[in-house]
Amino acid sequence: MTLSISFSESPSLQFDTVIVDIYEDNRLSAHAETIDRDTGGMIKHHLETHPKFKGKAGQTLVLTTGKDSPYLRVILLGLGDPEKIDHKESEIIGGKLFLALRNSAAESAVFTIHKDEARSNIKSADLAAHLSMGCVLRSYKFDKYKTNISDDASSSPEMVLEISGEAAEAAEAVFENLYSEAEGVFYARNLVNEPANTLYPESFAQSIKDELRPLGVEVEVFDEKKLQKMGFEAHMAVGQGSAHQPRLVVMKWAGDKDGNFKNPMSFVGKGITFDTGGVNLKPNGSIEEMKLDMAGAAAVVGLMKTVALRKAGADVLGVVALAENMNSSNAYRPGDIIGSLSGQTIEVSNTDAEGRLVLADSLTYVQKTYNPAFIVDLATLTGAMMIALGFEYCGTFVNDNELWDKMEVASHNSSEKLWRMPLDPAYKKEMDSQIADMKSLGSSGRYAGACAAAGFLERFIEEGTIWSHMDIAGVSWVKADRPTAPKPATGFGVRILNQLIKEYEA
Ligand code: BES
Ligand code: ZN
Ligand code: ZN
Repeated sequence: MTLSISFSESPSLQFDTVIVDIYEDNRLSAHAETIDRDTGGMIKHHLETHPKFKGKAGQTLVLTTGKDSPYLRVILLGLGDPEKIDHKESEIIGGKLFLALRNSAAESAVFTIHKDEARSNIKSADLAAHLSMGCVLRSYKFDKYKTNISDDASSSPEMVLEISGEAAEAAEAVFENLYSEAEGVFYARNLVNEPANTLYPESFAQSIKDELRPLGVEVEVFDEKKLQKMGFEAHMAVGQGSAHQPRLVVMKWAGDKDGNFKNPMSFVGKGITFDTGGVNLKPNGSIEEMKLDMAGAAAVVGLMKTVALRKAGADVLGVVALAENMNSSNAYRPGDIIGSLSGQTIEVSNTDAEGRLVLADSLTYVQKTYNPAFIVDLATLTGAMMIALGFEYCGTFVNDNELWDKMEVASHNSSEKLWRMPLDPAYKKEMDSQIADMKSLGSSGRYAGACAAAGFLERFIEEGTIWSHMDIAGVSWVKADRPTAPKPATGFGVRILNQLIKEYEA
């Protein structure tokens, strides 16, 4: 299904579906009164005879009109409590509206923005824009490998949703900005959903070049020879067991007016295109979904796309560390002692703890080369984070309270939820090794595994660097559909980081 959204003062298209939004009190708006009259009192009749439809947030009721009606159906859409509705709720409602539209095979629908209401917590234009965003995010589909799409009930032809009313122009302006986020999210989801036989470091890097260069992002790819020469020893060790050689991709968006790329806001993504666990092979039940292990990198490149599309007025750096963690005669082993770009040596405790190794070199590289304003890394780093927070919150470690404050604002503005996790010298200390500068797993074993991983990364953060680590293992891949994201890949990270950049731009 492709969904397109259009905006106009008065409906310009022949539509088959009218959407009528109703708050919990079932009080009809002026627009709803008109539709009610058009349909011979159908809305009021159903509100009276359908006691289960109560205008609750996201509730929908599809009504089929009579043969004399100018349209085929009316969809009643609950908005819930007018004092509670906000931009997040509007997106969730939009996601549910999309399902009602799709399930009723609507091809063209109209949503009329009413006048702002004093009792409502949200401006009508914002409501319409975020509702549209919810629809768009829920309409995502990954069906490129289906050879017979027409057999698939959920894939109907194109659908147009028209937002009409006096405030359509204002709604369009808000939506346009949101849509650049949707495009970044879709790119990230596409990459995560893509299987590892087609998406490996080299092809991932090629996709980034193809997608971002035309938008004005400078993209540089380091191949295995360059990485070897530069001293990315930890990154190279992780990738050495695979026929697909590692890559590092550096993306620059120079949006700041001064034109010299300086103190960029920097984002680093873990891009393990498949994580078998290596010699410490993952068991059945844990290995099947491991094409997702590049979701951090996907979020970073999705973010770069969004930033370029909206022409952000800031210098933004994206770095993704790409490698495949395979088991082979050339694979690195538990007990190996490897070097790193920072010069520190690492005793490999377990080859399945590979993400922290590739990230370590990228963190060093960014600090040594770019004097970043701050660095945020994103990684599907630990199963322990999923044990701690499940699928709802992204566990976030941060060494600077001002950055955390801005991340909280960004979280509010984007609907992507964060929970602050502790950094502590004890977690760093437990990585001490007898025979190298550190080992890759802490002495607490499986306890506080996500915190220990953050403690490991912190050993690569230099004095004065403002840094945050987001462990997205639980939130980048979901087993059940979400209101605004069909399973599995969510594209988590694009929206919150785009909002974070906006906080610093402002
Ligand atoms: N990629 C995994 C973490 C992961 C697990 C992400 C499940 C998404 C879903 C990571 O590389 C890993 O294997 N971590 C190990 C660490 C262990 C060896 C200490 C884990 O979490 O089991
Ligand atoms: Zn692993
Ligand atoms: Zn991994």
